[in-house]
Order: sequence, then structure tokens, then C-alpha cells
Amino acid sequence: MEIFRVEVLMVTRRSFILKIFKSVLLFIFPYFFITSSRGENLKIFKTQKPAKGLVLWYSQTGHTERIGRIIAAQWRKQGLNVHETDIESLDFSSMGNYDVIAAGVPVFYFDIPVNVKNRFQMIPDLEGIAVASFVTYGGTGHNQHNTGCDVLELFQKHGGVPVCMKTFGNMSTFAPTWSAGNSERILRYSHLPDKKTYQDARDFGDTVLHFTGKGKVWEIDRECSFWSPMRMFNAAWWTALLIGRHEVNHQKCISCGTCTERCPGGAINSTDFKIDKKKCIACMGCINNCPVQAIEMEYMGNRVYGFFEFMKREKIAIGEPEEVAEKMNN
Ligand SMILES: Cc1cc2nc3c(=O)[nH]c(=O)nc-3n(C[C@H](O)[C@H](O)[C@H](O)COP(=O)(O)O)c2cc1C
Repeated sequence: MEIFRVEVLMVTRRSFILKIFKSVLLFIFPYFFITSSRGENLKIFKTQKPAKGLVLWYSQTGHTERIGRIIAAQWRKQGLNVHETDIESLDFSSMGNYDVIAAGVPVFYFDIPVNVKNRFQMIPDLEGIAVASFVTYGGTGHNQHNTGCDVLELFQKHGGVPVCMKTFGNMSTFAPTWSAGNSERILRYSHLPDKKTYQDARDFGDTVLHFTGKGKVWEIDRECSFWSPMRMFNAAWWTALLIGRHEVNHQKCISCGTCTERCPGGAINSTDFKIDKKKCIACMGCINNCPVQAIEMEYMGNRVYGFFEFMKREKIAIGEPEEVAEKMNN
């Protein structure tokens, strides 16, 4: 009984201190902590019995795509007609044809990747389509929950009704970390994604349909996070500034076009593979995906190498979930 009382006291004191801390932050950065959009839209669902689903994602190295494909497979299992796609290949004007949408992004620089934000401006009027968001992040993660909220809010602004969101942790793909000798930080999460991650993704797919069926609206509820205000300082811009040499080694290059394809900033010319540093958004898409290590990049004096090369050197292989293995290996 005594122990119980002490526990309660501790929790109360801790939550009190946390509340004070949150209030101070709220005072300093009011914009970032306002819970966004409660009661803003009419919460009328297009349908509570979805028949057509859309799963879309932006994924540079496969983590977000894998989760998206699991959700799509799960929805198919539940009898839905599902279209799954990366955002670049999606005809945004077709979005209104679906009854439920799941949108996935990785966290880049504490935020939705800038190229995705730009693409999301093309979301048409969704007229009550149920919307869920899923987010993948690296390591302990920075601002992952709020990034999921931001995705939901963007869709809500276009008439979508938020039903659910979830974050999924795995290895970070931020190449400068291991290239600067901090491999250990990344390797702590080399067991992820694992079977539990995949089961969580399946359950998430089910939950989205369950909440939609019940007409349950998700209250977009931001976390008080130190990393939210950090977005003001535009970490991508600073990273781009710290990238020194950034060019294609023409002796190694096999002209496969992967770097051009994977550069959402359009910074790599598709004929001579010259890199326009002014257009680079420091997303690491080129370095992470070049199959022959032909991208030469220096970050604060360190030679950077990509995610798949890092996995190869560390002998890490991601065990693919069976329902999507074939698609992920293509
Ligand atoms: C340029 C860049 C910036 C990143 N910034 C963050 C970040 O701010 N917070 C975080 O938790 N993870 C960050 N990460 C890690 C990715 O979010 C994570 O590895 C994600 O799962 C990658 O997904 P993808 O393989 O679908 O692209 C970053 C990765 C890159 C390449």
C-alpha cells in the first residue's frame, strides 16, 4: 500500500514538472504546440464501408514503401480493391475515386520531406475520404509523431477525415552519420524492421478500416517536442551547405539513371549527370541509391557512402515480410 502511494506521488510530481515544462515551451513557441485542427472540418465520411483503397508513399530506401505495401496487402485481404504506389507515379486527380487513403512518409530533417510537401499541394478535394498516415523514422527518432500529424492535417485541409496514424522505427538512412564514424548509433537499430514491425503494420491496416467502419475521427494531437521548433532552422539547408564535393565519377558511372530518378530536387542532369548544387535538397537520394558508388560526396571533410553500401559492409540484410517480399525485391 505504502509503495503504491509513493508511486502515485512520483507520477504526479513528474507529470506536474512535465506540464510546467510544456507550458514554458508553449509560451516561447506558441505556433508549434497549438493542437491543430480540432473541429475544423465537417466530420462526415464519404463512406464507412470502404471498397476502394489507395496506399501511397514517398520512400527513398524502401522502409516506408515496405510498410505501405504491407498495409495494401492487408486491405486486400479484407476484400478491398487497392491501388498502391509511390507519390511520384500517382495521378493526384484520381484521389477522389477512393474511399480510404493511407499516406506514408519518412521523417527528413524533423519534418515531411520538402519534395513531398510540394507534391501534396496537388491533393484535390477529398470530400470526406477517410485518411490515415504512417511514418518511418531512424533510431530513436526526431519529431516522428508530429510529422504523422502534419500529413493528416494536410489531407484534412483538403477535405479528408483523419482516422488513424502510426510511426515505425528502423535504421536511419542519414548517410553522413555512419560516414563520419558513428555507425554504432545506426547499428543499435539494425534488427529493425522485424516481425513485430510487420505485424504492427498489418494491425494498423486493420485499425484504419475498423475506425472508418465505426465513423471514428482521429483527433490530431501534436506532441510537445523540442524538435518541432528546430524546423525553423532549416536543417536541410545547413546540411546542403556542409556538403563539400558532390559530383559523379564518370569512370565508375554506368549511366543507369538511378541518381537522376532518385533526386527529387531535379539536381542531377539526366544526360551528362552534372549535379546542380543549388537544387540539391540534401536528401541523400543519390548517394544512398547509386548501385556502383559513383557519387562522390564529402560532408564536413568525410567521404560519404550510401545506405545499401553501409548494409553490405555491415553484413545486414532486411528480412522481407512474405506478403510483399516479391515486390520489395524488384
Ligand atoms: C536526409 C535524411 C534526413 C533524416 N532526418 C531524420 C529526422 O529528422 N528524424 C528521424 O527520426 N529520422 C530521420 N531520417 C531517417 C529516416 O527518416 C528513416 O531512415 C526512414 O525510415 C527512411 O525511410 P525510406 O527508406 O522510406 O526513405 C533521415 C534520413 C535522411 C536520409
